[in-house]
Amino acid sequence: MLKPKIQQIGILTGGGDCPGLNAVIRAVVKTAILQYGWKVIGIEDGFEGLLIHGKVRPLLFSYVKGIIDKGGTILGSSNRANPFEYKFQVNDKVISEDRSPILIENLKSFGIDALVVIGGDGTLSIASRLSKLGIPIVAVPKTIDNDLASTDITFGFDTAINTATEAIDKIRTTGESHHRVMVVEVMGRYAGWIALQAGIASGADIILIPEIPFKIEAIYQVIKERAKVGRHHSIIVVAEGARPEGGDMFIKRVVKDSADTLRLGGIGEMLANKISEELGIESRETVLGHIQRGGSPSAFDRILSTRLGYGAVKLLAEGEFGKMVCLKTPTISSIPIEDAVKQLKKVTPDLDMVQAAKAIGVSFGDCSPKN
Ligand code: F6P
Repeated sequence: MLKPKIQQIGILTGGGDCPGLNAVIRAVVKTAILQYGWKVIGIEDGFEGLLIHGKVRPLLFSYVKGIIDKGGTILGSSNRANPFEYKFQVNDKVISEDRSPILIENLKSFGIDALVVIGGDGTLSIASRLSKLGIPIVAVPKTIDNDLASTDITFGFDTAINTATEAIDKIRTTGESHHRVMVVEVMGRYAGWIALQAGIASGADIILIPEIPFKIEAIYQVIKERAKVGRHHSIIVVAEGARPEGGDMFIKRVVKDSADTLRLGGIGEMLANKISEELGIESRETVLGHIQRGGSPSAFDRILSTRLGYGAVKLLAEGEFGKMVCLKTPTISSIPIEDAVKQLKKVTPDLDMVQAAKAIGVSFGDCSPKN
């Protein structure tokens, strides 16, 4: 691929938002302007902004001042506008069309020489395909789920587990007062990282994750054993993707047009109802939901986002197109985008974090507790 002379880059955020996106945008804009003298164009609402006119605007240095602590994304996001399968309605029919040629044409007319794409697996898959069409592109991974195998940690995850931990701490005090079993359902999709780490940090009694299917009897057993020694309250942290042995994940809704159409949820309510019915102990569920994706990023996420944003611009300057920046502790590194999207990172039962939790008496619903 011929290395283009870069004068102006575009930046977009795709997929679900997460704390730290603005910190990445800020780092990209500042590095591009200060280190390379490039101009930066902000593209609104993910790839949608490259398919529809009126959705791009210059990102001047002054526009990214004071946004490091802001949640969300100043550019807006979308997980619907896949340029290769762009969907629109004509009368009652939904039509799907490959609009990548329009996107390429628009890049030229907007004067964008190279692209920084910040997103999750859906957005990164699109970025990989665009890169193969010859568009100079680099990617920055994001997700609160921390489920990408190609990077040690994704930004947004640290903030999400801090938010969840703080919420569970609060739920514990009301559970204690009312002698209730409090079930807290957290996000994470098909991986249990948020439940595992927020559960450990908040001192949960039971942690349920997709990677370790649970037996409901084992959960009853823990609650009964605790009640016997006078602990009438319990905290259960359950990942939205957790499921009983031999059972399926709970699907809350189907979102057409999204890369992954399934949205999980409902396991918390099922558990709280079952516990109340079977044990005669009052139980309540709390679904933390999008609170985990919002708010100001933690110091850790602000720093990681800044390092990744700088790393992405450096990759462009070095002509390392088709790559994704990633954290290989202790350094920021890179790998081909197409390899980055191939593998999910899941919790493994032999992980030291799981073992440490079990050693201190936390149940994963897979066997009886030791204390
Ligand atoms: O991938 C991030 C995430 O927040 C998941 O944890 C969750 O399952 C999903 O996105 C929710 O998606 P939406 O915002 O489309 O409901």
